[in-house]
Amino acid sequence: MARIILRDIAKTFGTTPILNGVSLDIEPGEFLTLVGPSGCGKSTLLRILSGLEEPTSGTVEIDGKDVTKTRPSLRNLAMVFQSYALYPHLTVAENMLTPLKMRDLDRMERLPLVGPLLSRSKRRDLMDQVSATANTLRISDLLSRKPGQLSGGQRQRVALGRAMVRRPVAFLMDEPLSNLDAALRVHMRAELSALHKMLNTTFVYVTHDQAEALTMSSRIAVMMGGDLLQVGTSDQVYSQPTNLKVAEFIGSPKINILPGEVGKTGTLTVFGQEVGVSCVTHGPVSVGIRSEHLALTSPQQAVFSGTETYRENLGSDVFVHVAVSDGQHRVVLRLSPAQASSIRSGDAIHIAMDPAHVLVFDKHENRSSATLARSHEVPA
Ligand SMILES: Nc1ncnc2c1ncn2[C@@H]1O[C@H](COP(=O)(O)OP(=O)(O)O)[C@@H](O)[C@H]1O
Ligand SMILES: [Mg+2]
Repeated sequence: MARIILRDIAKTFGTTPILNGVSLDIEPGEFLTLVGPSGCGKSTLLRILSGLEEPTSGTVEIDGKDVTKTRPSLRNLAMVFQSYALYPHLTVAENMLTPLKMRDLDRMERLPLVGPLLSRSKRRDLMDQVSATANTLRISDLLSRKPGQLSGGQRQRVALGRAMVRRPVAFLMDEPLSNLDAALRVHMRAELSALHKMLNTTFVYVTHDQAEALTMSSRIAVMMGGDLLQVGTSDQVYSQPTNLKVAEFIGSPKINILPGEVGKTGTLTVFGQEVGVSCVTHGPVSVGIRSEHLALTSPQQAVFSGTETYRENLGSDVFVHVAVSDGQHRVVLRLSPAQASSIRSGDAIHIAMDPAHVLVFDKHENRSSATLARSHEVPA
């Protein structure tokens, strides 16, 4: 298990800044996911961590040692890529043996004909390590196949196996599931989580898929435009985003954003209606509320109204898309099938906001403190 510390990592390609001073402290044994839109610098940061790329400035530390100038092969990290990078002409067993041979056999011992004679017992030892890893990953029956004879999920497992045999101090994974079909991707999320628990090793995982990040990670680092915006648990980045961009990137369906106004006394109104929240900031704000925190209500209790434009029926939940009667905004409500069936097409839909889950963002897009207004406090 390794503690990895990135300090103030900056990178420019030519004159284009790609990373603007990223600092991140990855705890031993944690499953940390770097998530952000395509092109925000995730792979570059991971490549700097692995040593494949040099930072323009800043340092990489592994277990207290500055490895910024250390060759990738000496950092004892395992990298798993989206393209599995397996050798097509070698069997699964030979693919998994290769990194061990590179590490444990000298040049003579690696020669095709003489090598096996020189290093018989060493090779047996390495093959035992491959068998043990194959057992763990349940790919023992695939050892004699070639990559072309494997399914996507099996290839992914072999690529992991090849990374695992060396017992690295940390696994670095760059979008390892993005070549798999949707069902297999969901299944592999569970497998990777289980594998992380079993190996008890630091995982640094890169994805652009926020759902993948939310389901697997002990902590998530949200990146955008070469900056780290927030680092926290899934619950923290989902429920307490520190920034409007994080709120909009994390969660599906996307968080609802409505225009709000905070009066001189700190009272928040949305479309001129009080929502039961007091703020410290003043003036115009963006008000975020997730689909599960909007509810159907009576016209008297409603903060705003609208009409249905579209519904997504997922069986257990129904996402009802509503055009707000101001003619400009749209929101999504998560309803139970029973609630959704009470709405007839063309009906006016009256909507309440749960004040306990209202997120307020100031004009700089930073989240501003919002508390329940007196009138909405639950009596003790
Ligand atoms: N070797 C390179 N030379 C020039 N530009 C690069 C290089 N590698 C990446 N970039 C650019 O850096 C930005 C970030 O890339 P990358 O780290 O791959 O993003 P992500 O993995 O988040 O999609 C992109 O705009 C990409 O075009
Ligand atoms: Mg990438």
